[in-house]
Amino acid sequence: MTMQLPPDISLVSELHAIEAELAAATNATALEAWRVKYLGRRGRLSQLTQQLGSLSLEQRRAFGPLVNDAKRTLEDLFAAAQRALQEPKAARESAAHHLDVTLPGKPVTLGRLHPITQTVREICAAFQGMGFDVAEGPEVEWERYNFDLLNIPRDHPARDMWDTLWINWTDPNEEGRRMLLRTHTSPMQGRIMEQAKPPIRVVVPGKVFRHEATDARHEWHFFQVEGLAVDRGITFADLKGTLYEFARRIFGADRRVRFRCDYFPFVEPGVEMAIDCFLCKGEGCSLCGDGWIEIMGAGMVHPNVFSAVGYDPEEYTGFAFGIGAERVAMLKHGIDDIRRFYANDLRFLRQF
Ligand code: DAH
Repeated sequence: MTMQLPPDISLVSELHAIEAELAAATNATALEAWRVKYLGRRGRLSQLTQQLGSLSLEQRRAFGPLVNDAKRTLEDLFAAAQRALQEPKAARESAAHHLDVTLPGKPVTLGRLHPITQTVREICAAFQGMGFDVAEGPEVEWERYNFDLLNIPRDHPARDMWDTLWINWTDPNEEGRRMLLRTHTSPMQGRIMEQAKPPIRVVVPGKVFRHEATDARHEWHFFQVEGLAVDRGITFADLKGTLYEFARRIFGADRRVRFRCDYFPFVEPGVEMAIDCFLCKGEGCSLCGDGWIEIMGAGMVHPNVFSAVGYDPEEYTGFAFGIGAERVAMLKHGIDDIRRFYANDLRFLRQF
C-alpha cells in the first residue's frame, strides 16, 4: 500500500534542505529565525504534530515515529549550531581535527656522525684550542702541490713512498702538470704558503687516496689531518710540545708517546709519533708488532719547501705534521681493523 503524504509531512523528506538552511545561519539572529520557523510554537514541526491528529490510525502509526525522529534531529542540530556559535573559533577547529595530545608520537629517527667524522672534528678542535685555524683543500690535486713544492722532484725515488692514483689529465700550461688523487693532505702546505705570509698556524682535515692493498692497518682511502706552523724562531721543542699536548687532549695524560726519527722529503729532521698499543698495552702483538701504533709523521719544514713558495728559510722556521685519523680512532675506541670503518655495517657504526 502506498500512502499519500499530507502536504506538511513532506518536511520529513526536506531534512537536508532544512539542515543546509541552519548551516547558513551564522549569527544569533539568523539562528533564532530558523528556530522560530521550524521549532517555534507555531513552527512547521508543531503544525505537523497538530496535523497528525487528523490522520487515520494507520497513518499516525506510520508517520508518528517519523515526525518524532525529525523533531529530535532538528533539536539536536539546533543545539549544536548554538554551541558552535558560542565556542571560540580555535576550539572549534581543534575539535574538528580531533587532536589528542596524549597519543604516543611518531618515532623520529636521527642520523649520526660517522666515527671518523667525529674523530677528525675532535682532532681539529684539539688544535683549534691551541690557536690553529682550519682549512680544507681539493681531493683532486696537481702533482705540483702533491709532490714538486714538497721537495719531491719529478722522477725522484721518494715518490715511491706514495702509491699514486693518477688522473688522466695534464695541465696544458704545464704549471701544475699531471693531475692525481692527493696521496696526503700535505699539498695544502704549498697552497697555504703561496697565499699567506707568516705567522701561520693551520690544520687541514681531508680525505686522501693510495693505490695500495688493504689490511688491518691500511685502507686505499683514509683521512688525514695536516698541520703547519710557520713563524720566526719556531724550534723542534715547539713541535714536541704541541704534539704532546695534542696526545694529552685526545688520549688522556696516561697514554705513552714515542718519537722516532723518520724520513719525509719535506721535513728535516723528520719524526714519526706513536702511541702505546691499546691491545697489548705496549707489550707487542699481532696488531701493532712492537707495542706501538704510529699515528703521524712530522718534522721541521725543509728549507727547500720554504724557498719553493718564496719564503726566506733564513728568516722563518716551522714544523709540520700529518695525522692518520683512522689510527687515532682505532686507538681511542680499541678497534682492531681499519676496514671496519668503511664496511658500512650499521651494527658497528651505531656504537659511536
Ligand atoms: N704526508 C705524510 C704522509 O702522508 C705525513 C707527514 C709526514 C706529513 C711529515 C707532514 C710531515 O706534514 O711533516 O705520509
